[in-house]
Amino acid sequence: MNFFEYKGRELYCEDVPVEQIAEEVGTPFYLYSASTIERHFKVFTEAFSQRDHIVCYSVKANSNLAVLRLLADMGAGADIVSGGELFRALRAGIPADKIVFSGVGKRVDEIRSALEAEILMFNVESRDELLAINETGRTMGKRAPVALRVNPDVDPKTHPYISTGMKKNKFGIPISEALSIYREAADLDWIEVLGVDCHIGSQLTTSEPFAEAVAKLMALVNELEAGGMSIRFFDVGGGLGIVYDDESPPLPDNYAKAIVDALGTGERTLILEPGRVIVGNAGILVTRTLYNKKGATKNFIIVDAGMNDLIRPSLYDAYQEVIPVVKNDREEILADVVGPICESSDFLARDHKLPVMAAGELLAVMSAGAYGFPMASQYNSRPRVAEVMVKGNRYQVIRDRETYEDLVKGERFFKPKGQRPKAKEKQ
Ligand code: LLP
Repeated sequence: MNFFEYKGRELYCEDVPVEQIAEEVGTPFYLYSASTIERHFKVFTEAFSQRDHIVCYSVKANSNLAVLRLLADMGAGADIVSGGELFRALRAGIPADKIVFSGVGKRVDEIRSALEAEILMFNVESRDELLAINETGRTMGKRAPVALRVNPDVDPKTHPYISTGMKKNKFGIPISEALSIYREAADLDWIEVLGVDCHIGSQLTTSEPFAEAVAKLMALVNELEAGGMSIRFFDVGGGLGIVYDDESPPLPDNYAKAIVDALGTGERTLILEPGRVIVGNAGILVTRTLYNKKGATKNFIIVDAGMNDLIRPSLYDAYQEVIPVVKNDREEILADVVGPICESSDFLARDHKLPVMAAGELLAVMSAGAYGFPMASQYNSRPRVAEVMVKGNRYQVIRDRETYEDLVKGERFFKPKGQRPKAKEKQ
């Protein structure tokens, strides 16, 4: 359920006609529905109401401060994977004690910032990282709260680029080694073992892989607790899929039931790291038709947004529905919706059924609220687009369209009298 729908011939976001925003803000732009985000968060968190839990929204899915603030106001925590995401989460008012820090390559400066902020826990992805966190804790005189991210070797049956919990993936600690690394962690002076964590992949459309992963991790937890360790937090990661096309992912209630059943009884606090399911269908990308072109074998609708603005179709061959912002009665054709970038992979949709579009008319790329803007680049020196949020009959630009000056920010001409590296200090 989301708040993008036609009223008559016009596509609305909540109570605002999308075309009107385009007239005032220009194109392309991302458009988010605040009520949809709120609704998705509420449904998700209520699905887990029978268990003590924290919903740590996965910041990478959509990291705009306004989105984060909306979620913070509803009690969300954050799943972060970088110092930059920590900065954003704190800036948006997400309490540090609801922040978990995942990712295989945390740098020492990032570990230090997270320790300073006193986050809830680090999801540790390797033995080397565990030792680095211990060492950083020692230099700061602070014990670091950790969970080990365990790779349970479960096939999430999703796109290979977004599968993370199989043996061949770089993520997590192999389940076969987890017990011995937990024992080692328990003996480290600057580490406090708090929990267990996994994240098996993204855009999952069935509950079984989640249940399987949780069951595997519970067997490990039982063994750890039998050995005297206490595992207070059980972090299931994110990954619940959404409808882009004709998928039928489980509803949050069914997803929650599968997880809670596999978890069994116990006082443990559950942590969830949803990203896409909260924001994916709460956002669209609005773009304007520039030209129509009849290739030798295909129709092309050339629009002003490209793969630099929304890379999912190019990168994962992902399907995103494209619809006209104002319906028309012209004949329908099969067309590729392509951008202005100099790459053949620059498409937003391929062989898509659309009514003939005239130059200047608007198209909406649906389901673009997750992994849209955060994966955008300035490739081809294209300023990143504006982001707009709607609530009821109001809208606001929540990130300005970048300017040409933004494109060259921080760049300078090279002068031959550049600085020489400082002499290395003698050991
Ligand atoms: N937790 C961790 C540790 C993650 O790595 C991710 C996503 C999530 C939570 C949130 O997963 P979600 O609930 O959004 O599925 N760019 C890709 C998706 C990459 C997902 C990366 N990790 C896409 O556009 O499909």
